[in-house]
Amino acid sequence: MLAVKAFAKINFTLSVRGRRADGYHDLESVMQTLELHDRLEFVIAEHDVTLTTDSSEIPTGPDNLIIQAADLLRRRSGCRWGARIRLIKRIPVAAGLGGGSADAAAALYGLNGLWGLGFTMDKLMEFGARLGSDVPFCLLGGTALARGRGEILEPLPPAPPMGVVLVKPHYGVSTAAVYRRFDELPVPAASSDATSLLQGLKEGDFEAVAHGLHNDLEAAVFSMYPELPELKERLKEAGAAGALLAGSGPTIFGLTRSLEEAGIVASRLQNPEVGVWVTSTVGF
Ligand code: C5P
Repeated sequence: MLAVKAFAKINFTLSVRGRRADGYHDLESVMQTLELHDRLEFVIAEHDVTLTTDSSEIPTGPDNLIIQAADLLRRRSGCRWGARIRLIKRIPVAAGLGGGSADAAAALYGLNGLWGLGFTMDKLMEFGARLGSDVPFCLLGGTALARGRGEILEPLPPAPPMGVVLVKPHYGVSTAAVYRRFDELPVPAASSDATSLLQGLKEGDFEAVAHGLHNDLEAAVFSMYPELPELKERLKEAGAAGALLAGSGPTIFGLTRSLEEAGIVASRLQNPEVGVWVTSTVGF
């Protein structure tokens, strides 16, 4: 049996640069891998690819990006092997944390090994971009600047180690719906760039990272879910040095100097209306 971890991500910054002819949006985003992860287990089988999971929220048929990753690899390689795949789901679903993309990336990586296909990482990242905009970053991991749809990646110096508190209401959000709402709103007056955050990363300056957070999708998501700005304030009042909507939401993340501090912040947030997770950044 082969096991692969599929790590969640957050975006320290996410600037939407414009709408493209293909309906996607050009982005500039500083992305960061979190320690929070799903686990995928692979056993080789004769013909079929089957998926089981411990989560009631995950479809296990052709809609699942893991199955789509397996199909894509078999088409591109001519491989006839099958696999029994088990997904142990820990990353909250439809949360803005890249869980589906992480699973797709882990499936590409795991099956490439299980079936002995020998595709390079660059090739896997090219396949990944077909499955979802965040999949190439999930294959790369660590800290990186993403451009284009999210698939053009430049590795960055690892972020200083920090604690991360995740707070998520009990609903999920559709990324496509968030971008549609974004397009309805006036263009953000000052779509900030990532200069101060990038400087903070270079200097390993936690405060500069925590104060340089920015997400252009926040206004769109906050207009759809008016309780979220309050959740962000609560996270800061509880002791997070900076807080931001994670990707297209609805999770809000808060940054702390250490994992221990993240635990203290989380203990102040216990509330039946939200789920709370404590994790940390990971360098690769
Ligand atoms: O690529 P992915 O399947 O994760 O994207 C989900 C949806 O989010 C897309 O269908 C698109 O509506 C929107 N999106 C976008 N621009 C991006 C990434 C995603 O408009 N760069």
